[in-house]
Amino acid sequence: MVYQLGILGLGTVGGGVAQVLLTPEQRHPLLQELQIKKVGVRDLDKPRPVNFPPEILTTDLQSIVQDAEIDIVVELLGGLEPARTLILEAIAQGKHIVTANKAVISRFGDEIFTAANQAGVYVMLEAAVAGGIPVIQPLKQSLGANRIHTVTGILNGTTNYILTRMQQEKGDFAEILADAQRLGYAEADPSTDIDGLDAADKIAILASLAFGGRIARDEVYCQGIRSVTAVDIAYADKLGFVIKLLAIAHRDFSQADNALELRVHPTLVPLDHPLASVNGVHNAVLIAGEPLGEVMFYGPGAGAGATASAVVADLINIAALLPMGNQSHPLLTCTHDHYCPIVPL
Ligand code: NAP
Ligand code: HSE
Repeated sequence: MVYQLGILGLGTVGGGVAQVLLTPEQRHPLLQELQIKKVGVRDLDKPRPVNFPPEILTTDLQSIVQDAEIDIVVELLGGLEPARTLILEAIAQGKHIVTANKAVISRFGDEIFTAANQAGVYVMLEAAVAGGIPVIQPLKQSLGANRIHTVTGILNGTTNYILTRMQQEKGDFAEILADAQRLGYAEADPSTDIDGLDAADKIAILASLAFGGRIARDEVYCQGIRSVTAVDIAYADKLGFVIKLLAIAHRDFSQADNALELRVHPTLVPLDHPLASVNGVHNAVLIAGEPLGEVMFYGPGAGAGATASAVVADLINIAALLPMGNQSHPLLTCTHDHYCPIVPL
């Protein structure tokens, strides 16, 4: 069975996704069943990935969501509009959705999931939070037995990259931000990263999954890193702390109304805390609940490859859930030539 994909956006993330889908060899067998039919962009004359077939590019995004042959729409445009409207239109056409768009999901997730339930389609968003780190699926499934009370995360790669370099090389804020943009970590409008809004979108999504309810995105307290100076970082270091932009969701079960705290702000993190050594573009999500205790997810939080990994995982998961999506795996054989029972890390 072949599933036809319509991809909206071929920027950092779209380009990474196209690269994986166009070279499916040696990856998951279900990738052979995913075929890119059309890709929507703004500018047809921009340079695109080397092996990308230009004839499937279009600036007519409606022609993608209305295409009866497209089974899954992958929304990688960013921003609120036209992303939200196109997602809803694609759902109304019976298409499954994969999106990396935390801004849309944190504000319009309810509307989108209600529409998807009515239409009987899947909406997957692993890439919307913490880039390549699998955290949405674990929260929805593997941690389901827990009563989660706290989620603490470094959820923005750009700001963590800036803070890490300010600390390690005392580099200039503007120069480091320009590097983060060049590396494809920052949002189209980087103030979204710097002012903590992106991390606030992400913690709202994690909180709604962790606590099993709707979160009003505007209730997340939000302070970014603009006011953090080299002097702050130096003093923090002398006192045994590192400054990190943390996103925190806490539910106090001892309160009658189960009071909820949702906040994003620069935080003094003790050097021996597990989040203190999460550096550069890496993100981490520390989840605490009962009976598990604490679990931490860690990995690359932004960039083409990391994010494509999460988007394509969602596509594979949808293909596996759809009728005929299951396929037997080929038998792999071992070679023992270089096997060594004690391998240093
Ligand atoms: P990007 O590099 O700015 O790419 C956006 C793409 O969408 C471009 O191809 C652009 O077309 C196209 N586009 C945007 N608005 C359009 C419109 N109105 N009509 C037609 N095409 C339009 O953005 P990105 O970094 O790939 O991010 C995409 C999404 O993934 C965002 O929601 C972002 O928050 C999320 N995300 C990003 C990362 C990351 O590391 N970058 C990680 C996780 C999640 P042109 O190419 O013609 O300009
Ligand atoms: N701009 C975002 C970040 C991309 O820096 O974390 C990943 O969501």
